[in-house]
Amino acid sequence: MLMDQDEQKRAVARAAVDHVARNLPEGEILGVGSGSTVNFFIDALSPLRARLGGAVASSEATRRRIEAIGVPVVDLNTTDRLAIYVDGADEIDPRLRMIKGGGGALTQEKIVAAASEVFVCIADPSKQVKSLGRFPLPIEVIPMATRQIARQLVALGGEPRLRKGFVTDNGNVILDVHRLAIPDPVALETALNQIPGVVTCGLFALRPADRLIQG
Ligand code: 5RP
Repeated sequence: MLMDQDEQKRAVARAAVDHVARNLPEGEILGVGSGSTVNFFIDALSPLRARLGGAVASSEATRRRIEAIGVPVVDLNTTDRLAIYVDGADEIDPRLRMIKGGGGALTQEKIVAAASEVFVCIADPSKQVKSLGRFPLPIEVIPMATRQIARQLVALGGEPRLRKGFVTDNGNVILDVHRLAIPDPVALETALNQIPGVVTCGLFALRPADRLIQG
């Protein structure tokens, strides 16, 4: 029987909870990403509540959802290293490099991913691509630099569009860049990181996922 996308996301989420149950030592803190697949993961996480030392959240929405199931949310500054980080993706390639930020939480997601030993990506089959670039690349920018950054993105061949009515948890805005060719994700992530006013680009290639759970 064919599963619809939400059923696929639920299946992926359940498989990720099994992975955490088998691999996260008791009392350790779990890193948790953002988005609808992650929401299914948090909902399925309740049975593990008692054995988690807490969770680091990558967005306000995730923080509220984790607290609602009774798991304490911990400040990243109170812990050195997370054993496991679970997060979704908008696109993931065969080398587990990703485009993220469809939900706008890319900056805190990249920070928590960088603090984690193992990045477990949970992505239903619709997210898996041969090469990245069909999904518009989200870039979080400091508001005063928007126009200047947009000009540079056009020079790189992209079509930046301001995400309307959206402010990130960090008080910034998002440019979604359409039609940007990404032949070398590491090189492009490195180049975008150099543009003044870019807070974070949604390419996760310098620090790709370590594991993909697809249900
Ligand atoms: C949020 C993200 C999400 O992980 C990504 O957008 C996937 O979301 P969903 O699981 O809802 O498809 O990067 O910033």
